Amino acid sequence: MKHRLLFVCLGNICRSPMAQGVFAHVAEEAGLAGRFHLDSAGTGGWHVGNPPDPRACRAALARGIDISGQRARQVSAQDFERFDLLLAMDRANAKALARMAPAGAGERVRLFLEGLPDSGVTEVPDPYYGGDAGFDAALDLIEAGSRALLAQLTGGGHPARR
Ligand code: 4NP
Repeated sequence: MKHRLLFVCLGNICRSPMAQGVFAHVAEEAGLAGRFHLDSAGTGGWHVGNPPDPRACRAALARGIDISGQRARQVSAQDFERFDLLLAMDRANAKALARMAPAGAGERVRLFLEGLPDSGVTEVPDPYYGGDAGFDAALDLIEAGSRALLAQLTGGGHPARR
């Protein structure tokens, strides 16, 4: 059975498309891509149908990851059936997901960075209103979070510290 993972942020044009792209890349590198079904969505609907923010595309591409083909969509009630885990980039989005969750589906909602060991960081800050540096910082967190999550889900133990 594949792990079905939905990465969730507010607009679905910055953090969650980067998280989907980075997680796919990290899983691919580990030879584990076939064990995952991945998608991303936003709790807000303002950018539905749009490609990721150009700053997100540039920052990801600088790391060899092309996310330009993704298109934003809004989280729907069906996502709680279609995905095993809904991974929120921050607490506000985790709360929004928890409010939407059908009875019994609340435990599918998690903070994406929850499994990042020893960092003390649990949220990926929203880079939308800042400059390029914020996107790179978000990507650093997303990369560490992706490696930790991959290790958790595939029994790989703690990932190497970076
Ligand atoms: P994201 O960033 O949640 O990481 O995609 C944002 C994108 C757009 C907006 C807010 C955050 N917005 O308000 O339009």
